[in-house]
Amino acid sequence: MPLRVSTRRSAADSVDVPLLVLAFRKHPTLPPDLVALDAKLGGTLGQTLGRREFRGGRDEVLHLSGSASGANPQRVLLVGLGDPSDVPGALRRAASIAARQARKLGASALAWHDGGRSADTVEAVTVGLLVGAWEYADLKTPPPADERRPELESAVILCDDATAAQAVDRGIAIGEGMALARRLAMMPGNLCTPSYLADTAREIAARHGMQVTILGRTEMEKEKMGSFLCVAQGTPQDPKLITLEYMHGPAGSKPIALVGKGLCFDSGGISIKPAQGMEAMKFDMCGAAGVLGAMESIGRLALPVNVVGLVGSTTNMPSGTAVNPGDVVRSHLGKTIEVINTDAEGRLVLADVLSYARRFSPSAVVDAATLTGACVIALGHTASGVFGTDDALVADVLAAGTRAGEPGWRLPLYDEYKDLIKSDVADIKNTGGRPAGACTAAMFLKEFAEDFAWVHLDIAGTAYSESDLTYVPKGPTGVPVGTFVELVRGRAR
Ligand code: BES
Ligand code: MN
Ligand code: ZN
Repeated sequence: MPLRVSTRRSAADSVDVPLLVLAFRKHPTLPPDLVALDAKLGGTLGQTLGRREFRGGRDEVLHLSGSASGANPQRVLLVGLGDPSDVPGALRRAASIAARQARKLGASALAWHDGGRSADTVEAVTVGLLVGAWEYADLKTPPPADERRPELESAVILCDDATAAQAVDRGIAIGEGMALARRLAMMPGNLCTPSYLADTAREIAARHGMQVTILGRTEMEKEKMGSFLCVAQGTPQDPKLITLEYMHGPAGSKPIALVGKGLCFDSGGISIKPAQGMEAMKFDMCGAAGVLGAMESIGRLALPVNVVGLVGSTTNMPSGTAVNPGDVVRSHLGKTIEVINTDAEGRLVLADVLSYARRFSPSAVVDAATLTGACVIALGHTASGVFGTDDALVADVLAAGTRAGEPGWRLPLYDEYKDLIKSDVADIKNTGGRPAGACTAAMFLKEFAEDFAWVHLDIAGTAYSESDLTYVPKGPTGVPVGTFVELVRGRAR
């Protein structure tokens, strides 16, 4: 059950919930609107702040016991915002931490108070609460009823602004898109198959008035997508090229295209990966999940824009029919490609999807892909690699990522990288060796991103994490849903 979020105009001392969350900036003192609550708590809040036991630092949390009479709130949780330059970002983060804490405590409902009077930040708080409350438990047998701890079912954001309810709705739209992307990412490869992604796209389309087109192997053969298909030739599963068209913008205005790498499992193929950690390659479809999640959010937000979502999905498997190192294939665009390493499969899939995108006459194309380990080495898990030749579009994508709390960092596309992917037998080869591995991968994509402004996001380090982060647990983060939604929204304004 997704967390129900709502908003209410009431004072912190009069809400009837088991857990009250109070968010404070650095060096807090007791604000006038919490004086009545403090009295109800027997003065512990004022004392705690006065003794500086809680300083409002970023990610700081402190539990207080609640009302002395045993009435609600049974517990109070203080969360710190630090001294933020990005206030919505700090609130999103703190709200996520609070929701995670609430789940650990077994609180069924919480109220959130940050003293904010306007609805500006309510959307960010909503997104944060949903991010923090998210979990993937579909494949776990639930414990017997008497051992089950109550689930966090509802959250109410205290705000006086009359427009706060709409801000909550927008936050839910974004949070649900992120939840969808995270669920798809977390699902194992035997369940989240290319067909499953196609079915998910059909369902999104039906709910939000989008047109959906699915190409399978036969249709892609007719389209002469030799690059995409060479990756798929090692698996009996039908590969899928999924298109979602959301045309709710001005008639005739060119759409923005969002493209996602959807490798439901990447074993490396004949250039097989080491066994250690290979299970994480179920996450190699996070770009695709990001596109589907963003389309879900865009549909829920009913944005007045034209957007096309494109997903290239298959698995990369070694087999007697798999593509071999040294093989040469002809791409949809017509360029020939020498496959040096079958593990550099994402760029082979995306090459054909990018060239297919031309038929929508897009004003801009942004792809997201868990493309290279090299990008993880360059930027870690903190920022996505951002590549592009159109400076204005790069700036837009970077700004969208910042607004969404999904930072990106621009990396170069120097002409020299092109020399590293020159082939002896074909027009281009699919790997350029270890140096600048994220850049040569992006350079390869650039060769297929003709006729439109294009940006590539390498999300290999940011789409999922192998350890618990402060505000998102181990597993998929939801990146790049927020970036995509903010980018599209920026164009709608
Ligand atoms: N899906 C991987 C990239 C990846 C690696 C994502 C680690 C997340 C974490 C991609 O298909 C891949 O295997 N890339 C190779 C390219 C190499 C063969 C040129 C890589 O990064 O090692
Ligand atoms: Mn690979
Ligand atoms: Zn891959």
